[in-house]
Amino acid sequence: MAALQTMFAYVGIGVVAYYISLIITFVYDVFLRAGVDLKKFGAGKGAWAVVTGCTDGLGREAALELARKKFNLMLISRSAEKLEAMAAEVREMGVEARTIAVDFNNVSEEKWAQMAQELNAVRVGVLMNNVGVSYEYPMHVEEVSEQTIDALVELNMRAMVKMTRMVIGQMKERKCGLILNSGSFAALIPSPFLSVYSGTKGFVKYFSQSLAAEVAPFGVVVEHLQTYFVCSRMSKTRKPNFLIPLPKPYIKNVFSKIGVEGGSSEPYTSIPFFSHALMAFVAERLAPKQTAINYNRGLLGGLRKRALLKIQRQQAEASKSQ
Ligand SMILES: NC(=O)c1ccc[n+]([C@@H]2O[C@H](COP(=O)([O-])OP(=O)(O)OC[C@H]3O[C@@H](n4cnc5c(N)ncnc54)[C@H](OP(=O)(O)O)[C@@H]3O)[C@@H](O)[C@H]2O)c1
Repeated sequence: MAALQTMFAYVGIGVVAYYISLIITFVYDVFLRAGVDLKKFGAGKGAWAVVTGCTDGLGREAALELARKKFNLMLISRSAEKLEAMAAEVREMGVEARTIAVDFNNVSEEKWAQMAQELNAVRVGVLMNNVGVSYEYPMHVEEVSEQTIDALVELNMRAMVKMTRMVIGQMKERKCGLILNSGSFAALIPSPFLSVYSGTKGFVKYFSQSLAAEVAPFGVVVEHLQTYFVCSRMSKTRKPNFLIPLPKPYIKNVFSKIGVEGGSSEPYTSIPFFSHALMAFVAERLAPKQTAINYNRGLLGGLRKRALLKIQRQQAEASKSQ
């Protein structure tokens, strides 16, 4: 009996010590540990940063932050007009800027080749594969339009792979480069009512992690950036709160925490923002996965109901005014 009690005591101490070590690592990562200095990737030394989907939301803030860090900017997005305004803003910050207008929904082979040529004419230190789309609102898979499904595949997956292949050669040759891929909590916890989006972000996660391990011996860093909600056009949230920051503070954290896991238990993954890291810590280490999925179904199902009510209201108002 005494031997059994001693064994249970040791197991208990082991479990408590394990959780204490997890909490210490979490606090250290989120509050104290500095990320890799961007100078390692050529900041202030003439290197270029390439950002896709850079005219709004997270991509716009990322481009501005990289300009503040003194990277020249290759700005890639859909609208030529917005890109020119963005380039002017970046040049004001004392760095060079070039633009490539492209609709990632529909890129010809000639356009891909032209983009590759433009990218390989400069020394690319950073590529941020940021462009992405989601659903208009959470819905059942059979309700998602063919057009949305094509966009999810083209923007969230194909563009990332094609852009990466364009720059990886020069980065490996120089043994220097950072590729940052925009992932989502939809790949941390499977997301009912966003199944296709969640699937594409699962692709982003596994592509990033596999590639990261493949190119690490060549001195190239690949990081999967796992983001919960941030205020943006895509998230349809304008007012920040504890869990949903504005893009600017969020992106500041991203670039000061390169190479730091934050709340993530996954390799080559960063969850740099405190409240997101805390959520991931609870979801990954404390809650059973099925409980987390059920929570997500409730959350996204609620958002779906609200979106449908809003559409009904708008339709009623429109028919009244006719
Ligand atoms: N915001 C969030 O809460 C959140 C959470 C998790 C993950 N993420 C990920 O973060 C990334 C950025 O999200 P965001 O919220 O910043 O998005 P956003 O505000 O909607 O901005 C998207 C950017 O992509 C560009 N873009 C859209 N469609 C394009 C196309 N067909 N071809 C070329 N460019 C196109 C947009 O340009 P235009 O201005 O011309 O449309 C805009 O610059 C995405 O990969 C998303 O999945 C976001």
